[in-house]
Amino acid sequence: MQRERIIREIRTRLATARGVTVLTGAGISADSGVPTFRGADGLWRNFRAEDLATPEAFARDPCVVWEWYNWRRELIATKSPNPAHYALVDLEKRFERFWLITQNVDGLHGAAGSQKLSEIHGNIWKVRCTRCGRVDENRELPIAIPPSCAACGGLLRPHIVWFGEALATEDLNRSYEALGRCEVLLIIGTSGIVYPAASFAPVAKAAGAFVVEINLDATPNTQVVDVSLQGRTKDVVPELLP
Ligand code: OAD
Repeated sequence: MQRERIIREIRTRLATARGVTVLTGAGISADSGVPTFRGADGLWRNFRAEDLATPEAFARDPCVVWEWYNWRRELIATKSPNPAHYALVDLEKRFERFWLITQNVDGLHGAAGSQKLSEIHGNIWKVRCTRCGRVDENRELPIAIPPSCAACGGLLRPHIVWFGEALATEDLNRSYEALGRCEVLLIIGTSGIVYPAASFAPVAKAAGAFVVEINLDATPNTQVVDVSLQGRTKDVVPELLP
């Protein structure tokens, strides 16, 4: 299908939908200047995200993991939402049922004003005590390493879901409910290889949704979706909202 026809088709689907769900990944924040995980600019001191964002890495050396998070927090603190984030805030207001599921931990959807939102991998501006479990917002830059809990003195960790850890049940339930009840699912800027989000396209499709992918490149989701639009999120996402 030609690009114009695809965009027309998506607009028509959105015009008649009552329920819309959106899944976003690092690609939407790339247009705000946040490095993606699997792009070359996502490396820090030659570590890959998979070497640092794990409970094992934190148990081995919490200070190095916190140094990485300080680097990422300082970088993200200088970034702002882009037109794609704002287009999703606009989209949220147009539908009876809307849910935004993001794998991003940078908080840019919230900063843009999104409210119907699950941050399924957590948020880089929150910390959790490894001893008492208390979760707090924390915007210190840099955070003192190693950071400790104001309540019990235990070691704090980022409130982020690391590789090998389970997502919060509430986030998963809400996501599956939103995937099962939408007429349109937009999958924006994700490589589609990290589970469970990698399974969201087939889940929504099986439930009857029209599934759209927006990405710079082809991904494993490209085979599953109804239509695929290649391009930068900051250009393509606003185009879908006339
Ligand atoms: P990835 O870095 O794996 O993938 C980013 C995707 O965005 C790729 O498919 C790119 O082609 C695409 N992309 C990059 N720039 C783009 C742009 N300007 N416009 C459109 N598309 C663009 O990031 P995620 O899929 O989000 O987990 O990764 C999933 C999870 O793995 C992350 O949440 C993170 C990571 O390790 C945790 O932090 C727990």
